[in-house]
Amino acid sequence: MQLNDSTLLQTQGFINGQWRDAAGGKTFDVTNPATGEVLAKVADMGADETREAIAIAEKAQIEWRARTAKERCDILERWYDLMMEAKEDLAILMTAEQGKPLAESRGEVNYGASFLKWFSEEGKRVYGDIIPQTPDRRGLVIKQPIGVVAAVTPWNFPNAMITRKVAPGLAVGCTVVLKPAAETPLSALAIAELGKRAGLPDGVFNIITGLDAPAIGGEMTASPIVRKVTFTGSTPVGKLLMKQCADTVKRTSMELGGNAPVIVFDDADLDKAVDGAIAAKYRNSGQTCICSNRMLVQAGIYDAFVEKFAEKVKNFNVGNGLQEGTTHGPLITTKAVQGVDEKVKAAVADGAKVVIGGKPGSQGDHFYEPTVLTNVNSSMRVFREEIFGPVAPVFKFDTEQDAIDMANDTEFGLASYMYTQDMGRIFRVSEALEYGMVGVNETGISSEVIPFGGVKESGQGREGSKYGLDDFLETKYICIGGI
Ligand code: SIN
Repeated sequence: MQLNDSTLLQTQGFINGQWRDAAGGKTFDVTNPATGEVLAKVADMGADETREAIAIAEKAQIEWRARTAKERCDILERWYDLMMEAKEDLAILMTAEQGKPLAESRGEVNYGASFLKWFSEEGKRVYGDIIPQTPDRRGLVIKQPIGVVAAVTPWNFPNAMITRKVAPGLAVGCTVVLKPAAETPLSALAIAELGKRAGLPDGVFNIITGLDAPAIGGEMTASPIVRKVTFTGSTPVGKLLMKQCADTVKRTSMELGGNAPVIVFDDADLDKAVDGAIAAKYRNSGQTCICSNRMLVQAGIYDAFVEKFAEKVKNFNVGNGLQEGTTHGPLITTKAVQGVDEKVKAAVADGAKVVIGGKPGSQGDHFYEPTVLTNVNSSMRVFREEIFGPVAPVFKFDTEQDAIDMANDTEFGLASYMYTQDMGRIFRVSEALEYGMVGVNETGISSEVIPFGGVKESGQGREGSKYGLDDFLETKYICIGGI
């Protein structure tokens, strides 16, 4: 890793504005999934450091919430500028520890930084209400920061999932203790270094790095000081955190698993549908929560869709994301490769046909071949479970109602997509889909200005947009009498 600014490579935790070793100097290895190379030894912190960081965040919040929104938001804006200046280094760090191609990492840095910019603006627009009551009394509604926030973020978007949570929280006057994924802590630590340079006061943003997620998460959820837990990750872990938060009745925001359908109707623009489905399926080698998991294609266009889709997949250049020309990188762990392979093998055993791919890749033990499956059905694991890898099962349907029923036949409800030219159908199907987000003739739906989030077991709460502030605010009613 050749960084322009080598001080962005930090390996200690970040508490009270200081870089800190773990108790006893314990560390864990962060490796490049494409090569297996050890990139850094990072502080392996646990419950004690988490408790300390929470206490510090509580103290720091007193001064932070007392600042004007403008003062807080000016710091976020500087942080945005610094992140954009450091874009190339942040992208290199991300690709090295996560595996996605450099172009995708650069895109994610833009995306991540955009939340700092957006909430540096939106954070100044936290308004209340005056409610008319009887002639001698008025009701005031004010919004206040919820308090200390614990954030737990995933390895698939090591930058943007942090800023999407931290920026709105800090903008409104909360303080944050963050646990980034153990696979990708380097991006988080570099973001903290830039935050420090931008002028974040000590203790306002703290990072606990560590392997022992149950101990760190257990401390975060048990602490009565923490008033909110925000999590992006798997549905089982989200459910566990919600249960653990129940004892202290914390607010939770959960951005959990998905099982996104891309519905392609006979009347779709075929080229656009193929390109959109491919972009959504294979972004980050299929490791996103809003990845199209199931291609649902109407019978009349099915064969043409499969042919074009597979033709494009053939041209992928899978490899080390740091190398020029790589279009798709490795999966995060060998366990992930194994999990994807098991689902494909199970589908094939039940009659699925492999059009392309279908096995682990030859580039190393973290790779899986971009895969297209046909002759698949709704009883298979590739229909029911989140694949989280570069595998596209293409299902056939006959009628509009069949497509809706198949799309909704899942406990998940994050993103969904459809391709059609029929305006009536756009409204009918969008409204019938049990999903938090619907992309119509478009799969690139993410940005800082939209409310990102799901329904059913895909989670609760919304991130980004003007709604992204709500989960970090309490609504207080003040009744003024004797007027
Ligand atoms: C995710 O997969 O969780 C995030 C994807 C995005 O924000 O676009």
